[in-house]
Amino acid sequence: MTDASDKPDIRPIRSFGRIGGRALSARQQALVDDLLPKLTVPDGLRDPKDLFPDLKETWLEIGFGGGEHMAEQARRHRDVGFIGCEPFIEGMAKALTQVDADGLSNVRLRMEDARPLVNALAPGSLDRVFIMFPDPWPKKKQQKRRLIQPDFLDSLHRACRTGARVRFATDVASYADEALGRFRQHGGYRWLAERADDWRTAPTDHVTTRYETKRLGDCTPVWFDFEVV
Ligand SMILES: C[S@@+](CC[C@H](N)C(=O)[O-])C[C@H]1O[C@@H](n2cnc3c(N)ncnc32)[C@H](O)[C@@H]1O
Repeated sequence: MTDASDKPDIRPIRSFGRIGGRALSARQQALVDDLLPKLTVPDGLRDPKDLFPDLKETWLEIGFGGGEHMAEQARRHRDVGFIGCEPFIEGMAKALTQVDADGLSNVRLRMEDARPLVNALAPGSLDRVFIMFPDPWPKKKQQKRRLIQPDFLDSLHRACRTGARVRFATDVASYADEALGRFRQHGGYRWLAERADDWRTAPTDHVTTRYETKRLGDCTPVWFDFEVV
């Protein structure tokens, strides 16, 4: 029998270590007011091709923080449509600044929990997913707030096409162990590592994230790349 306390925590998002925020600059506020509505992914989106009819793939970044990784990937891959989800306004404002400055017409955004978006997508919608340094929730009693839960992996698996790639990174040893175990137990994600260096060394296409540089975790960063099978 499952104890209620074992169930994943799906209440509105609380972010790890976040204590209040700085006021947005006038420029950031203007981007949130004027640009964000134009780029926002509509509620219940099923087919990302509605957003990117001419682009060859759809990539999703969950919890993009300040958006540096998403923006750089979008600059490098102008033929790919990016959806970025980040519920906190400071990160969204930073991402909007980069999207605006570099004319990243291949980016769409959602200032919300990524989970309902993933749930609503039609099966096979996503070609690539990045989950970079998700909130670690290192204390035992907080761990059920972690994003990587069996139900979420089901939902993500359904939204990805066969052959899609999913990258997960963390610098918290207990999350690395738990997440790797959950991806592998699921059966629908094939871990692509062949040698230890494959997960201990940043992948060649990795873009260093702001959170990563803070080295707040208890281990050196690890990167797990999976293929959806
Ligand atoms: C530890 S930060 C890492 C940010 C960024 N990926 C980086 O590496 O710099 C985790 C981010 O995930 C966001 N987040 C947490 N839960 C989320 C969810 N369910 N959907 C989307 N974003 C989420 C948080 O707001 C936070 O900005």
